[in-house]
Amino acid sequence: MEKYIIKGGSPLVGEVEIGGAKNAALAILAAATMTDDSVHIDNMPDERDTNVLLQAMESIGVIIDRVNRHSVVINASQVKNHTIENEFIKKIRASYYLIGALLGKYRHAQVVLPGGCDIGLRPIDQHIKGFSALGATVLIEHGIINAKAQKLVGSHIYLDMVSVGATINIMMAACMAEGLTIIENAAKEPHVVDIANFLNSMGANIKGAGTDVIRIRGVEKLHGTDYTIIPDQIEAGTFMVAAAATHGDVTIKNVIPKHLESISAKLEEMGCQIHESDDAVRVVATKRLTATHVKTLPYPGFPTDMQPQITVALAMASGISIVTESIFENRFKYVDELTRMGASIKVEGSSAIVTGVERMTGADMSAPDLRAGAALVIAGLVAEGFSTLDNIKFIERGYEDFEIKLRSLGANIEKVDTDAEEQKFRLKAGYGDIAQ
Ligand code: UD1
Repeated sequence: MEKYIIKGGSPLVGEVEIGGAKNAALAILAAATMTDDSVHIDNMPDERDTNVLLQAMESIGVIIDRVNRHSVVINASQVKNHTIENEFIKKIRASYYLIGALLGKYRHAQVVLPGGCDIGLRPIDQHIKGFSALGATVLIEHGIINAKAQKLVGSHIYLDMVSVGATINIMMAACMAEGLTIIENAAKEPHVVDIANFLNSMGANIKGAGTDVIRIRGVEKLHGTDYTIIPDQIEAGTFMVAAAATHGDVTIKNVIPKHLESISAKLEEMGCQIHESDDAVRVVATKRLTATHVKTLPYPGFPTDMQPQITVALAMASGISIVTESIFENRFKYVDELTRMGASIKVEGSSAIVTGVERMTGADMSAPDLRAGAALVIAGLVAEGFSTLDNIKFIERGYEDFEIKLRSLGANIEKVDTDAEEQKFRLKAGYGDIAQ
């Protein structure tokens, strides 16, 4: 089984390019099925989740033309049915975006219930509430959601909690409903805005995305477009924290610095220097980081998808930090692995109390989910000696070429598949030590 082998201790130094936002791409790919015209999407990340979604779309007759690794043309004029049963699709969370897209266009969608990372209960009641308010009948039977409507009519929908997925899904279905839909307590994440911009470029009429009230005036038809996906906030944040934790100096390019403000602010509190330019941030950490408190919140708050990574950086900072997870209830599963590396972290309810240690040592670990997997890679980069990490398929769901990008910054990391490959890495990395 493929795994990463890492030898810690090298600061990350250099420049890294960030790809397109996974969570924006997933919704945009699904929304591209809402027109019979061709839709050209650029800056698409080449990751497991996006590829699985494209396969599922192909299974109902959508024509997918991969122009190159990051560019795709989608044509949904030949869609044969509205039932997504593709066996892989239940593994990805964003399969639910096909419900909003197909319901909006065809008034019918049947999709296997979504899976995704195991970070706590992930109900979809707010999505269903929204579809029902628009006039759909939604049934869940045998693990399949079946949404149907004679017609969709605009409605006033108040979300009980800020949900990225529900906001986007309702926005998609409402695009082609009759009249005005108002979503209150909407999510404001950068990718909500990106999807609204994408739909508007297809002829939709969406106003207010990026605020907590979104107004959607339904249109009869959407048309083709040419669109470039925004950079990935979480991939960028992950490299920022990796730079900080390894006491490095990394310029993270092709980003929107505004989307990274909550992460930049925390890293500054921890003693890093952050230099922003139009489309790059440079993170410089010259000394041991200092403790701070972090609470995850909907945007513009600190992203829950960055919680494991920042906790790793705090595990070696001086002082005591409290990290509070307020979005998902089971997002500290990686802490056991950090403890085995020598970290001192106590989880109490939704908070982790992190007492910074001066050193951690490498261990054999397993990635529990996508973002925690990335965080454990950072832990391997700061720990003394060798670490291995298996279950890296989770990381590949949402990071393109993760180990290749890290290696270009000077990290000692390799993806290996056999004992011989692992041994070769150990010898080479160990020889480096002796040679020094
Ligand atoms: C999306 C992201 C995920 C990120 C999360 C929060 C995708 C594919 N995934 O997930 O990476 O961690 O946003 O930024 O874009 N909730 C309900 N009922 C609902 C919907 C949500 O109770 O119908 C709850 C959830 O359990 C969670 C909170 O609301 O506690 C926020 O979830 P939500 O924003 O919907 O997350 P996802 O869209 O699943």
